[in-house]
Amino acid sequence: MCGILGYEGALQATPLIFKGLKQLSYRGYDSWGICAQTKKGLQTFKRVGDITKSNEPKFDSTKAIGHTRWATHGKVTQKNAHPHLNESGTIAVVHNGIIENADDLRLALEDEGYKFKSETDTEVIPHLLDYFAKRYDDHTALLKTLKHLKGSYAFLALLKGRLAFARDGSPLVIGLSNSGKFISSDIPSFLHHTRKTIVLEDGDWGFADEDRIYSGKEIVSRPARIESWDVEVAKKGTYPHFMLKEIEEQQMTIRKALNQDGRIKIAADLLSRSEVYILGCGTSYNTGAIASYELAKAGIRAIPSLASEFEPHLPFINEDSIIIALSQSGETKDVIDAVREAKKKQAKIISIVNTPGSTLARGADIHIPMKSGPEICVLSTKSATAQLAILSLLTHEIENKSPDLLREAAACAPHVIAQTKRVAKQLAKKLKDTRSIFTIGRGPLAPLAREAALKIKEVSYIHAEGMPAGELKHGPIALIEPGVPVIVFADSNTRTLTISNALEVKARGAYVIGIDSKNHPAYDTHIQIPDIEEATPMLALLPIQLLSYYLALERGCDPDKPRNLAKSVTVR
Ligand code: M6R
Repeated sequence: MCGILGYEGALQATPLIFKGLKQLSYRGYDSWGICAQTKKGLQTFKRVGDITKSNEPKFDSTKAIGHTRWATHGKVTQKNAHPHLNESGTIAVVHNGIIENADDLRLALEDEGYKFKSETDTEVIPHLLDYFAKRYDDHTALLKTLKHLKGSYAFLALLKGRLAFARDGSPLVIGLSNSGKFISSDIPSFLHHTRKTIVLEDGDWGFADEDRIYSGKEIVSRPARIESWDVEVAKKGTYPHFMLKEIEEQQMTIRKALNQDGRIKIAADLLSRSEVYILGCGTSYNTGAIASYELAKAGIRAIPSLASEFEPHLPFINEDSIIIALSQSGETKDVIDAVREAKKKQAKIISIVNTPGSTLARGADIHIPMKSGPEICVLSTKSATAQLAILSLLTHEIENKSPDLLREAAACAPHVIAQTKRVAKQLAKKLKDTRSIFTIGRGPLAPLAREAALKIKEVSYIHAEGMPAGELKHGPIALIEPGVPVIVFADSNTRTLTISNALEVKARGAYVIGIDSKNHPAYDTHIQIPDIEEATPMLALLPIQLLSYYLALERGCDPDKPRNLAKSVTVR
């Protein structure tokens, strides 16, 4: 949520920041801005809208900061776009996160004569820096500013000609290249320059022109690491959209996710002795809920919980509890906060995360990497199937079963993608003007139906509702009228009952689409997928991802950047 990027080095900074912000724009695309340190002082350029549709500003500078915004405080306007500056235009700040005490700080600063130009919480930071910089040296001014901020932040500041950084609660990573230093919310923004990174911890701060990193008044050691991510994976290549590229990449990524080391065994041992909660948001919650059925069959009672609604479970968490935290980004604030609360009660944390070096990857007792490579499209696709693959692998380990079946499913993915593309395209043409789509399934296919509805609605803006098939007759069936599309997920375990529900909606005129290994007269359209026992949900996701993609195209929506969304949700 909001991407920030700074550079200081030997190269021209503005083109690097402009290019890097484009890479970061999945974190927010309401507005963007760049501020460069030039011979004439700070020069700023801001625009409303998506940076990928804009021209590059030209500043002669080797030090600059930039921001791409997902609006929290204040409307989407040029005034509210970052960077924000002090009144004299000598200090500039870009910020990701929320300053919770911004209103109090603003009043206090206004009492001191400071005038605010925007509605943002961020603007208190340049004014605070200004206040302290007039009284103290750079280090003290920055430290004193940090002491006044409550909430979560990662920010970069151009302060008296120096590039300063600080993080507390939002991600920030330094990229060390031969030509200079990058400081960013996310690695892909500088991956084409360097894979050598230093991941900052909460409380860290410093200046790019020093090698020291501070936490409070102490100098801390933060080791550099080499990221495994491949720069090519962060590029769209010949694909029209990242979404399609990432859907197709599942031909490899499911297989990669299954290729894990001894951590799976350690995690499986832990799980088989404890009470388990699976936490996630959005798609990551849905995949956890799907996997909970398979875990239950293996004798593990795993309670899926939305991370944002974890509180009622907290009284039951203790040193015997295991939390499986699922997150593509590893930076979802709701998940991080729930995990923190659970840790306070001595729970053990297993995180299944895609982004290396992220908060959830680092803060877990056992971290199992998804290995999907950068997922740039705002929609979770390859990370969802990676999560399912890893959770199934864990269950197989608990049951002492060979993972061959999962490998078989991974090997089917290319075929499923190729076979279902055409029908997904045709269906998208047929359904493009529909007002609502319902998706139903039973057992693990019930949360899968919820995930299907999430995919459809977030990218095509068609209202979609996913539910357990058995719940239809308890209310939602009132919405079924002739022509309403109902997508039915069924497999050998659930088919008999699910088909009854399909027939109930068909009797009321619904247009029934079956995603099933077998055809049935209830289905007006049949999308065939292989029935590979517990691996079926993983494969059933593929046609729905494709359908969502083509629906977005049919309706003229941008599949990579749906409106109002951001890839990494770092606020609560
Ligand atoms: O990075 P995470 O997996 O923690 O993100 C969780 C959700 O924000 C994410 O799955 C979201 O629902 C996506 N838009 C789904 O496509």
